[in-house]
Amino acid sequence: MKVSQDLVLDVSEVLLTEEQIGAKVVELGQQISTDYAGRQLTLVSVLKGSLPFMADLMRSISLPLRIDLMEVSSYGGTTTESSGLVRILKDLSAPIEGRDVLLVEDIIDTGLTLNYLLRYLKGKNPRSIKVCALLDKPARRLVEIPLDYVGFQIPDAFVVGYGLDFGEVYRNLRFVGVLRPEAYES
Ligand code: PRP
Repeated sequence: MKVSQDLVLDVSEVLLTEEQIGAKVVELGQQISTDYAGRQLTLVSVLKGSLPFMADLMRSISLPLRIDLMEVSSYGGTTTESSGLVRILKDLSAPIEGRDVLLVEDIIDTGLTLNYLLRYLKGKNPRSIKVCALLDKPARRLVEIPLDYVGFQIPDAFVVGYGLDFGEVYRNLRFVGVLRPEAYES
């Protein structure tokens, strides 16, 4: 893996600009504010990729809300693809029983992580649980799960930025872009 000092140089195409993302996050926040008015909203963000999205989305929602953070990792790349097993590295810090939970994800790819998380969180007896994903990559889906709020559907390309990484790098780009093959093939 060869990373340029100027991360932008490793991107072949900007898929979503900072402005496009910003406008969409505001739109999602307004819709969520309308839909959850008068309810006990808890946003649950799945680290690390959803960190920028969560930070922007929560400030686009005008309602009183709580946030909580989880971190999960797959049991090794190929194992997850076949079994959907996910390891919880950081669990919720407060009960969600009786609360309206909105799971905030940066990207839904195979859907295996989301499938696991929804089953896990439903076991904690929330009043409701829905999903808000910034990016949806339907071409790679292995488990069909209805997504309640989606920012953008994207093609099956290797995307980085706005939280998304390759080898833990590129999360701090302000836009979502396609990584040059040279950056991950070497
Ligand atoms: C990403 C993303 C989702 C998951 C989606 O996380 O944030 O949690 O992959 O993939 P799936 O639909 O195929 O399960 P990742 O494991 O890359 O960790 P990160 O958020 O720390 O980058």
